[in-house]
Amino acid sequence: MELKSYIESMRDAHLEELKEFLRIPSVSTKSEHKSDIEKAARWVAEKLRGAGLDNIQITPTKMHPLVYGESLRAPGKPTILFYGHYDVQPAEPLDLWTSPAFEPTVRNDSLYGRGTADDKGQVHIHIKALEALQKTSGKLPINVKVLIEGEEEVGSVSLWDFVKENRQRLQADALVVSDTAMLAKGVPSITYGLRGLNYYQIELTGAAQDLHSGVFGGAAPNPITILAETIAKLHDANFRVAIPGFYKDVAALSKSERKALNSLPWSEKEFRKTVGAPALAGEKGYTIVERLWARPTLELNGIWGGYTGEGAKTVIPSKAFAKLSTRLVPNQDAERIAKLVEKHVRKILPKTVHCKFDVLSTGKPWVAPYSHPIFQKAIHALEAGFGKRAVFIREGGSIPFVTQMHDAFKVPCVLMGFGLPDENAHAPDEHLSLENYFGGIRSVAIFYEQLASL
Ligand code: BES
Ligand code: MN
Ligand code: MN
Repeated sequence: MELKSYIESMRDAHLEELKEFLRIPSVSTKSEHKSDIEKAARWVAEKLRGAGLDNIQITPTKMHPLVYGESLRAPGKPTILFYGHYDVQPAEPLDLWTSPAFEPTVRNDSLYGRGTADDKGQVHIHIKALEALQKTSGKLPINVKVLIEGEEEVGSVSLWDFVKENRQRLQADALVVSDTAMLAKGVPSITYGLRGLNYYQIELTGAAQDLHSGVFGGAAPNPITILAETIAKLHDANFRVAIPGFYKDVAALSKSERKALNSLPWSEKEFRKTVGAPALAGEKGYTIVERLWARPTLELNGIWGGYTGEGAKTVIPSKAFAKLSTRLVPNQDAERIAKLVEKHVRKILPKTVHCKFDVLSTGKPWVAPYSHPIFQKAIHALEAGFGKRAVFIREGGSIPFVTQMHDAFKVPCVLMGFGLPDENAHAPDEHLSLENYFGGIRSVAIFYEQLASL
């Protein structure tokens, strides 16, 4: 059978199989899901085998296993490395899901469930595209190596050791990733830039133990107040990060890139709707697209301390905590920024509290040129799959592996994302447009087929 009609004939089977994958609650951050993680790894390995790949391996790590498979039966043809992740974010808050997170359901032409867009649905697109090529021509047109990890959502902790130990084996002419989004529905997109991510935790301790707020209030320091004051000082009135040196190495957008990014078919109105807040916020002097893709940020991700249960409790808490992170852009140095943030926080804190400052992870930004001929192949394939010409975008999210691979192998990285910005990745009611899922399988199959003549 011809490739496109084979893929068409498999629509229902593909969707049912994806649902099976999504029913496995492979939440990487929670130890109670250890066996689900292992189940998901085995599931991926089995499907890679079904797609005709060889040397399938599940490699245990200190945390979650890596799944690898390859097909090197096309001598003289290019070799690509496809990367994705089978782990997902926690589904909480559960009561905000319209249908349960791990019971995938089709609604409004989308498939709902944790992992649909990020990233199980997109990984499945590639497995099914490879299988379709294998089934319709009896072999793969190019050489492929597939690496699917289970720790992306917790910072890809074990991945780098694996890459170092398997350098030769992971060598490829290009890296292909589908773990990003399209600019908008009907606008196939290739991402050429991601922000880096540093994550921090602050623990402030005042009194040695909680105190009665009547007996001690007025004389004892309150770490919650101090934490709030400290956090409030991290931005200025124009929403710029008020840490000395934070912007020092930030690369300004060139005139031409600025123009290109700001003239993409992107609607601020749609964006406002997706955000759903009374008004947007952000750094003065930059458009929304620039703020999201080309400017660094500092965000508070969590804050807690004291009494938060029912009713009142008159207490001065001993401790207060915050989680915060910085998104980084070229040419900021992740390690240097981590030091700057810690130094500044310590400097503005009063002497009344102790501060424990932890850098939980650091990650570099990534931006790369898209002049390599493989990008033309990607454009053609996306056009064949979606009937629309692809655009080149940057994104604000982070994928640690992309930066690491690009640094280590200096190969082109083709990020073709099939998610959409309003598909609730990491949030309740995550979903994936069926049009993008099926269009993705078509595009990726055609992409791999056409890479034979790269
Ligand atoms: N798929 C996302 C990254 C992403 C999202 C890229 C949207 C571009 C657009 C990935 O699974 C993710 O969530 N990454 C984390 C970083 C990680 C170190 C926890 C992120 O960006 O917060
Ligand atoms: Mn992802
Ligand atoms: Mn994610």
